[in-house]
Amino acid sequence: MSFSGDQALLYRANLWLRTAVRVLQPILEATVTSPEELYDAVRALDWSRYMTPEHTLAVDSNVRDSRITHSKYAALKTKDAICDQFIERVGRRPSVDVEEPMVGLNLHIHKDVAVLSLESSGESLHKRGYRPILTKAPLNEALAAGLILLSGWKGDTPFVDPMCGSGTLAIEAAWMALRRPPGLTRRRFGFQGWMDFNIGLWTELRDEARRGVKKSLDVPILGSDIRGDAVGFSFKNARAAGVGHLLNFEVKDVADFQPPPGTPGTILCNPPYGERIGEEKELIGLHRTLGQVFRDRCPGWQAFVFTGNATLARQIGIKPAEAVPLFNGRIPCRLLRYDLR
Ligand SMILES: C[S@@+](CC[C@H](N)C(=O)[O-])C[C@H]1O[C@@H](n2cnc3c(N)ncnc32)[C@H](O)[C@@H]1O
Repeated sequence: MSFSGDQALLYRANLWLRTAVRVLQPILEATVTSPEELYDAVRALDWSRYMTPEHTLAVDSNVRDSRITHSKYAALKTKDAICDQFIERVGRRPSVDVEEPMVGLNLHIHKDVAVLSLESSGESLHKRGYRPILTKAPLNEALAAGLILLSGWKGDTPFVDPMCGSGTLAIEAAWMALRRPPGLTRRRFGFQGWMDFNIGLWTELRDEARRGVKKSLDVPILGSDIRGDAVGFSFKNARAAGVGHLLNFEVKDVADFQPPPGTPGTILCNPPYGERIGEEKELIGLHRTLGQVFRDRCPGWQAFVFTGNATLARQIGIKPAEAVPLFNGRIPCRLLRYDLR
């Protein structure tokens, strides 16, 4: 996805985008058929606009269907072109810091067209910072947020995840309902190392966002899991996300699941699907139970199941009203919607 705007929009995009992994600012596009052509194109740019010899830099690259085939070599050529320009002009050059560069660059070459961008996010935006503890197969935070957005949940009806694992879906749901930007407590963004970093503007935007965060939820957001350790992680992660006092998690087999009384809402879960944890055979019963629980105890609710296993999904035994194709990393998945009567 691409968009254009000013510096404030770049900061806001990093602060607010829940499903993005990184926000790139393209600064060069050129057709290149060899590493030397890439070098020349990069060197032709005036790099003093973006950094000084005192800055550190790193180049991340990927190459697809192009005459340049080695992404690492392409990154090296890019870095050389920048450093050689500085050496020629001022006799000093920026140094490389692959861990936390002040200026991160992203090089993408596809069908011989190179696009070089400033990496404004730094570390991937899905790393919100609230989930240091990893249970088995946790959902990526950006994917979790995307699933909630796709479900159409607006934060004004109950939200429940009966297989909550480390609590990602419940935490992301809470942040959305509270209008809390996902980047509010992030340690660092890439643009903070840039020459033009406007700390006043950034602080203003962040404080404005902070003032808009609601203090409490209007509806329950709940999670449960059969594993006690998972529930412990969920509580811990929710506290780290600043919403520990607003969410509730409990140890419960989905077979004993009861939705909260009152207005029906949204159930969203991703059961184990045999790809990474558990085996398919053992999971057949679990999916049948899930279907039965949906049918018998959740009338009026809308249930969403995110799964990468179509065979298991069929065991739920209810015809989904919708199936949205998605990927979880490389695993093709579906977000299935059940309108329960
Ligand atoms: C793929 S993980 C969910 C990951 C979670 N969305 C997260 O982000 O961490 C599936 C979860 O289902 C739980 N589970 C398996 N069988 C269950 C059952 N019978 N009742 C409740 N939870 C169960 C597992 O303990 C595991 O935490």
